[in-house]
Amino acid sequence: MKIMVVGGGGREHAIIKKLRENPKAEKIYALPGNGGIASDAECVGIGATEIEKIRDFAVENKIDFAVVAPDDPLVLGCVDLLEAAGIPCFGPDRSAAIIEGSKVFSKNLMRKYGIPTADYNVFESASEALRFAESSDSFPMVVKADGLALGKGVIIAESRDEALGAIRSIMLDKAFGESGNRIVIEEFLTGPEVSVLAFTDGKTIVPMVSAMDHKRALDGDRGLNTGGMGTVAPNPYYTGEINRRCMEEIFLPTVKAMNSEGRTFRGCLFFGLMLTPKGPRVIEYNCRFGDPETQVVLPLLKTDLLEIFIAVREGRLGELNIEFSRDSACCVVMASGGYPQSYEKGKEIFLGDTNGAVVYHAGTRLENGRLYTSGGRVLGVTATGATLSAAVARAYDAVKAVSFEGAHYRRDIGKRALEAK
Ligand code: AMP
Ligand code: GLY
Repeated sequence: MKIMVVGGGGREHAIIKKLRENPKAEKIYALPGNGGIASDAECVGIGATEIEKIRDFAVENKIDFAVVAPDDPLVLGCVDLLEAAGIPCFGPDRSAAIIEGSKVFSKNLMRKYGIPTADYNVFESASEALRFAESSDSFPMVVKADGLALGKGVIIAESRDEALGAIRSIMLDKAFGESGNRIVIEEFLTGPEVSVLAFTDGKTIVPMVSAMDHKRALDGDRGLNTGGMGTVAPNPYYTGEINRRCMEEIFLPTVKAMNSEGRTFRGCLFFGLMLTPKGPRVIEYNCRFGDPETQVVLPLLKTDLLEIFIAVREGRLGELNIEFSRDSACCVVMASGGYPQSYEKGKEIFLGDTNGAVVYHAGTRLENGRLYTSGGRVLGVTATGATLSAAVARAYDAVKAVSFEGAHYRRDIGKRALEAK
């Protein structure tokens, strides 16, 4: 089979490495891929949001199956274009991808179908939102841009002044462009966060092993929010009992709700959950695999990924028995110094012996056989082990074998999870 994977980060590298385990995956193209993916697939210089070019490439190269991994092309309708051209895809169509593409949509969906989430109000005008913040005395207040904002559209305002500033910056200064035409203001919740990715074909939903992301840039969960500085799986807070409850109160109701709306979701549905004292609540939905969650979840998957993707596309997920290893995994993200603010690119990367740990590439490029940094998050150094502490120790050992100028990484990935045990 000729397979095409749209995207070029650590998540796509993990997907491609897993797909390669199936001998039927004879040829894999990555659009656009990156310097490390180039060792596992043929990289093609088409950007992940150039959806017409992606479709044309797939048709010209007689692609048998496509995987659209990032949020932007999904929300833009990449799967609709490919399927219309006769290319079978893994990933939701545009009508279902709105579950991530619009927070107003997802919040209203949860309210309509009684899916537990933070209380909220939607605002279409800045003056109304400002008036609401002026008269409220419940702080912190969570202010969210409606649309995609590279993971930066959520502001936790500690005070009234911060909330007013956040509303002005999103709705008036358009800090996130059109994404800020509408906003959601919601109740601040507390509790451990869990990422649960799930395969679904709109009939069956199969949660994968749970994960814990580490979103802040610095140790001790300090510093700015990032795309994710590291992950572990499984997440020790997510017990079998909580999983049963989430299945009943959140996962199945979400699948049914999307069906009822005529927006059947087929692909990977990502539940960002908070385990509050009142029970699990949905913080956000994503219409795709998480990054860097995928880098710890897929190494623990025992069932063939390509077979799962095809079964989801064909509505046969219920026929499969999907199994995960009982091991643990840890991914430490190595980022460019200064990330998530300004940073320099083009630093040469040196990869030594990582003793069996896998280095997934995110922001790297290959030039004359040498690797250079080309983005904020550069590498995800990932190890598995029989216990979480073994996985964490192996991942950090491997980090020592990797270097580039200015490399920044957290030293405490997995610490909180180990303390929770
Ligand atoms: P999101 O982009 O929706 O994942 O939000 C980014 C981060 O903001 C989440 O991972 C949470 O840590 C935090 N967050 C979002 N919504 C809330 C909320 N209602 N209460 C507390 N924290 C939140
Ligand atoms: N790591 C969170 C996300 O992929 O959105």
